[in-house]
Amino acid sequence: MTTTTLRWGVLGATSYIATHLMPAIAQTPGCVLSAVASRPGRAAQAADAGGKFGATALPDYAALLADRDIDAVYIALPNTDHVDWTVRALEAGKHVLVEKPMALDEEGCARIEAAARAASRTVMEAFMYRFHPQQARATELLASGEIGELRVVRASFAFAIEAGSGNIRLEPKLGGGATWDVGCYAIDVPQLFFGQAPQQVSAHFHTRPGEAVETSATGTMDFGQGRSAVFDYSIDYGPRSWYELQGTHGTLTVSNAWAMSGEDGVLTVLTAQGTRTETVPAANHYQLQVAAFAEAVRTGGPTPVTLTDSRRAARVGAALTASAAAAGALAPTSDATVPR
Ligand SMILES: NC(=O)c1ccc[n+]([C@@H]2O[C@H](COP(=O)([O-])OP(=O)(O)OC[C@H]3O[C@@H](n4cnc5c(N)ncnc54)[C@H](OP(=O)(O)O)[C@@H]3O)[C@@H](O)[C@H]2O)c1
Repeated sequence: MTTTTLRWGVLGATSYIATHLMPAIAQTPGCVLSAVASRPGRAAQAADAGGKFGATALPDYAALLADRDIDAVYIALPNTDHVDWTVRALEAGKHVLVEKPMALDEEGCARIEAAARAASRTVMEAFMYRFHPQQARATELLASGEIGELRVVRASFAFAIEAGSGNIRLEPKLGGGATWDVGCYAIDVPQLFFGQAPQQVSAHFHTRPGEAVETSATGTMDFGQGRSAVFDYSIDYGPRSWYELQGTHGTLTVSNAWAMSGEDGVLTVLTAQGTRTETVPAANHYQLQVAAFAEAVRTGGPTPVTLTDSRRAARVGAALTASAAAAGALAPTSDATVPR
């Protein structure tokens, strides 16, 4: 092991981490998966998940943070645990890659930023889709001017979670709800391409009967100067993973924006000259994300997903929730017969 090897520890042994992030860390040159920790009483889960990568199983999260042989920590705990464990990891001198949403409000992001500064450590929110080569190609096509100046971003992300599945996304006490899950991506894309926070947002939420969190949402963002975003997201409907950039001369569609599982990316450009489609070969964006984070740690340079991005995402997520709560209901009329 060289001094530049980044030794990783993982908090929580979820199946998502075991199938996506652990292999991504293990496959990245200069990175090694050293330890995995589960909550007390679940050591077998940590041993099972980490064992195939040669990682040590630790009996609780604090033990992993106390391990001096760990340089970086990956956190994919329930959303309500992201801020506290990220701050604790930074205070223990670790670099941190934390799952989206980094925080459920701006204050959480500010706590993380202060802890990272005090510890001189790197922290980044894991927006994995940004590391897929199709994302770079979409950015390049927009910059080429082919679709003109960007005016509208449309985004839609959905997949269905069964009622009664015990999924953390349906649990309000764990930061559940569509907004903090698939919504994070629909919130990030318009801000990424416009390069700024919106001036106004609005949203309508729908809660599937029997659930205690919003399961679907539609909304808009206003970026000023005629630039806007329209989006929807759901943890109740059939799969959708799509965004579209409409400019003054044409439209660029990314038809598999987030749910890439070894599939090629497909980008379609529509202009007055016609339609053409480009294919971007499949790539492991989880692994590319780990590599980019490790590079930022090594160089001490900026992370590709910045703390400003994370603060904006948290602020807009909270504002959408407030907007949905404040949305005015129209008085019932005789033609309002559509069942809710
Ligand atoms: N970027 C992506 O593609 C992607 C995909 C999926 C999820 N995520 C993010 O990853 C995070 C976790 O999502 P997930 O789907 O992996 O969740 P999950 O399967 O339910 O796993 C959450 C893990 O957190 C630990 N945990 C700690 N306290 C818990 C509690 N009170 N209840 C349940 N689990 C608890 C458990 O690990 P131990 O028992 O081992 O301690 C559990 O395995 C979320 O923030 C989500 O947004 C991102």
